[in-house]
Amino acid sequence: MKILVTGGTGFIGSHTCVELLDAGYEVVIIDNLSNSKKEVVSYIERITGKKVSFYENDVCDKDALRKIFNENNIDAVIHFAGYKAVGESVLKPLMYYRNNLDSTLSLLEVMDEFKVKKIAFSSSATVYGKPNSLPIREDFPLSTTNPYGTTKLIIEGILRDLYNSDNDWSIAILRYFNPIGAHSSGLIGENPNGIPNNLMPYIIKVATGELDCLGVFGNDYDTHDGTGVRDYIHVVDLAKGHVKAIKKILKDNGCDAYNLGTGKGYSVLDLVNTFKKVNDVDIKYQIKERRKGDIDACYADPSYAYEKLGWKALKDINEMCKDAYNYVKKEDRK
Ligand code: WQD
Repeated sequence: MKILVTGGTGFIGSHTCVELLDAGYEVVIIDNLSNSKKEVVSYIERITGKKVSFYENDVCDKDALRKIFNENNIDAVIHFAGYKAVGESVLKPLMYYRNNLDSTLSLLEVMDEFKVKKIAFSSSATVYGKPNSLPIREDFPLSTTNPYGTTKLIIEGILRDLYNSDNDWSIAILRYFNPIGAHSSGLIGENPNGIPNNLMPYIIKVATGELDCLGVFGNDYDTHDGTGVRDYIHVVDLAKGHVKAIKKILKDNGCDAYNLGTGKGYSVLDLVNTFKKVNDVDIKYQIKERRKGDIDACYADPSYAYEKLGWKALKDINEMCKDAYNYVKKEDRK
């Protein structure tokens, strides 16, 4: 079975390619390298001992997509490619709508042309907005507070309408909570350039000395220690969830959404203190003002994913912190 992975050299995409290959699938990657590096392909091959077909193209380019489908007998697609920075999406909404929607529509139209009607889509817990209660279930109301999240919500709607128009489609909408960590090899992971938006990459840059001090965005939230609570999930667990989703869509038709989270919430200070303990490093931090748009707490009820996909997260917060730092320490010795 051959799976096309759009955005397959990215953080979650590359980990998913490793798990797909380890599970015996063949992998084809399309990625324009706008937020990743080509050497990730060789790292995926080194980790798994298997070859990957790589196309350096943009998913908006339908002719490039047609070439891939003509040259490969694709059985299903996992669609990661898209812009994903919340703050940037507020500043550049048109860029986000154009890129994330155009790429998805181009992909679905070419899939339809080639009668490949099985897709797993990379959505996000951000579509739940500020939940009225916790833990969050898939049938909770959906609302978004930023253009990035709205592109995810619109694409979920496109996928549902597509299935309603043609029940031959088989669609898994995967709503991620907060992916962190890295593959134990230390060859793939996340370490964005410049000032990170997200918590773990920022903690890591303080641990390596690249940045001096972590700003903790608010300590007056309605949580056990006042700092924001999130459902951090090891990126390898998340990747394995995609393999389970592929198995499901290869077997059954339908269109359904699944929470990919651990079901456990940890605060900013929980994560900082765990990172310090397991990596034996100091992390200087200062309490700052709340970040606009942040919510107090967010964590999943992952039981539906377990019931329907037979998947649950296995790795704990200690392993997430250890693996995340291990990746950065190895970065200069790849
Ligand atoms: C986590 C917690 C912050 C940085 C976002 C997107 C979501 C998904 C994951 C794409 C919050 C606090 C953060 C810092 C801090 N991305 N924080 N200082 O906002 O839960 O989710 O990333 O799919 O769609 O919304 O993740 O890591 O930015 O923040 O105190 O320098 O850490 O306030 O409580 P978030 P995050």
